[in-house]
Amino acid sequence: MIAKLLLPALAAIGSVSAQTATCTVSTTTINSQADATGLAGCKTVRGSVLIAPLAGASIDISGPTQITGDLKILDNRVLESFKSNDLTIVGGAFTMLNVTRLSSLVLPSLTRVKSLNWQTINALDTASIGPPGLTEAEEVIISDTFLSSLDGIDLASVTNMDINNNRRLVEFSTQLGNLSNRLNIQANGQDLVVSMPNLKWIANMTIANVSSISVPSLAVVNGSARFDSNSFQSFSAPNLTRTQSGDISFVGNAFLTNVSLPKLTQIGGGLLIANNSALEKINGFPELKIIGGAVKMFGTFEEAEFPALNDVKGAFNVSSRADIKESCDKFKTLAPSSQGGNGKIQGKFECIPLNDKATEETGDGTGSGGSGGGSTKKDAAAGLTLNTALLALGGLVGLAQALL
Ligand SMILES: *[C@@H]1O[C@H](CO)[C@@H](O)[C@H](O)[C@H]1NC(C)=O
Ligand SMILES: *[C@@H]1O[C@H](CO)[C@@H](O)[C@H](O)[C@H]1NC(C)=O
Ligand SMILES: *[C@@H]1O[C@H](CO)[C@@H](O)[C@H](O)[C@H]1NC(C)=O
Ligand SMILES: *[C@@H]1O[C@H](CO)[C@@H](O)[C@H](O)[C@H]1NC(C)=O
Ligand SMILES: *[C@@H]1O[C@H](CO)[C@@H](O)[C@H](O)[C@H]1NC(C)=O
Ligand SMILES: *[C@@H]1O[C@H](CO)[C@@H](O)[C@H](O)[C@H]1NC(C)=O
Ligand SMILES: *[C@@H]1O[C@H](CO)[C@@H](O)[C@H](O)[C@H]1NC(C)=O
Ligand SMILES: *[C@@H]1O[C@H](CO)[C@@H](O)[C@H](O)[C@H]1NC(C)=O
Ligand SMILES: *[C@@H]1O[C@H](CO)[C@@H](O)[C@H](O)[C@H]1NC(C)=O
Repeated sequence: MIAKLLLPALAAIGSVSAQTATCTVSTTTINSQADATGLAGCKTVRGSVLIAPLAGASIDISGPTQITGDLKILDNRVLESFKSNDLTIVGGAFTMLNVTRLSSLVLPSLTRVKSLNWQTINALDTASIGPPGLTEAEEVIISDTFLSSLDGIDLASVTNMDINNNRRLVEFSTQLGNLSNRLNIQANGQDLVVSMPNLKWIANMTIANVSSISVPSLAVVNGSARFDSNSFQSFSAPNLTRTQSGDISFVGNAFLTNVSLPKLTQIGGGLLIANNSALEKINGFPELKIIGGAVKMFGTFEEAEFPALNDVKGAFNVSSRADIKESCDKFKTLAPSSQGGNGKIQGKFECIPLNDKATEETGDGTGSGGSGGGSTKKDAAAGLTLNTALLALGGLVGLAQALL
């Protein structure tokens, strides 16, 4: 349906004069290898290039080093091999949507695109890009491929990155230093290991279904950080000092036993920890002083502590199936004065030991929270399936708009 929306935009077909070094087209459609070879004399293609299904199983567009517009391959179940020895820059979007037979992608020179949108390319197990590979892009979406590695994609900074439903992907290692809007990694291979050794700051991150994640340098999360349904046993962000505006949440990480955020002093939004059934102690927040939203913790944990906690703007709502009376007694001293405490917690205070309902909660209750807590509630409640759908749709709609 979305693909149909795109078609009118592609109807404008330019023609190429292959004699000059710069060839200007609006959109040129490659309908055969001969058309592709016809571009070889153009060093720069000023405009967009569409590879049509008619073009056949194998297309080589070696010659041009730059396409100033988009490079598109859409709804194509014929193309098996796509290659360009020379293509270095795609000024617009490099889009491959629903290209179901593509199994060989060879782009040794590609280093820069404005955005990369690859979705439903389910025969592609290897992309040969570089070295050095793709190092500059503002946005990257890679969804529903057969890729086991993203080695040719190694950006230093990016605005949005969405890596989802790549069922064979078991490793994602990136030199990424900062990410200015949203990172989503979700529903890839069961054993996906994510390594981001240089990541210093990130706006929003959602990490789900990974078996390990390493962020040794991460210092600031400007938005929210969510960790849902992962299979890691421990999570540590040794250098994280604060989230500027968003929440931190850990929901449904079945094997998680240890969360360690030793330098975290401030959460701009809320803190949600729920349904992590192996988590017995919540004691990895030794420096946490300020929480701008609500605190919600539900589960089977036996102990929880925030020794430095000094200011919670929202509600504080904690309950466990286990006997957390000792922890509750300590927290109670921070409750609002109306509830007998010193008022460091500003919102409603509730802490319930031996609460059988504590394992049914994932943070979507109707308990009133602070602003951050509020968004935590919604995000966590929406669930990941819905969230993926929205993110994926966002990508497609964005793409459609870009093309129209
Ligand atoms: C994918 O492309 C094929 C043609 O190759 C088309 O028949 C099919 O409807 C497309 N699927 C979607 C979801 O657009
Ligand atoms: C983001 O990372 C890029 C590449 O490492 C760097 O050039 C840029 O200065 C960084 N931006 C900020 C705001 O840290
Ligand atoms: C995120 O925070 C870092 C460190 O405070 C800052 O350098 C960066 O500009 C912020 N980025 C955004 C998108 O707000
Ligand atoms: C990923 O997590 C979601 C819930 O957050 C779950 O429904 C889904 O089955 C998981 N996918 C995989 C491949 O483990
Ligand atoms: C952690 O933060 C400290 C202080 O800002 C810095 O010196 C150190 O290099 C950081 N560690 C890593 C692994 O980035
Ligand atoms: C994080 O995402 C939220 C919701 O999409 C958005 O409003 C916010 O601006 C993002 N934060 C940053 C720092 O980009
Ligand atoms: C808690 O997480 C488990 C997986 O660890 C999941 O099967 C269960 O549905 C979750 N419970 C709730 C109430 O979401
Ligand atoms: C939890 O993880 C931190 C950081 O990796 C580590 O220092 C600590 O010893 C771990 N705690 C337990 C009980 O395993
Ligand atoms: C705490 O959360 C539970 C479950 O969401 C809810 O029923 C209760 O009303 C909340 N309590 C407060 C004080 O917000």
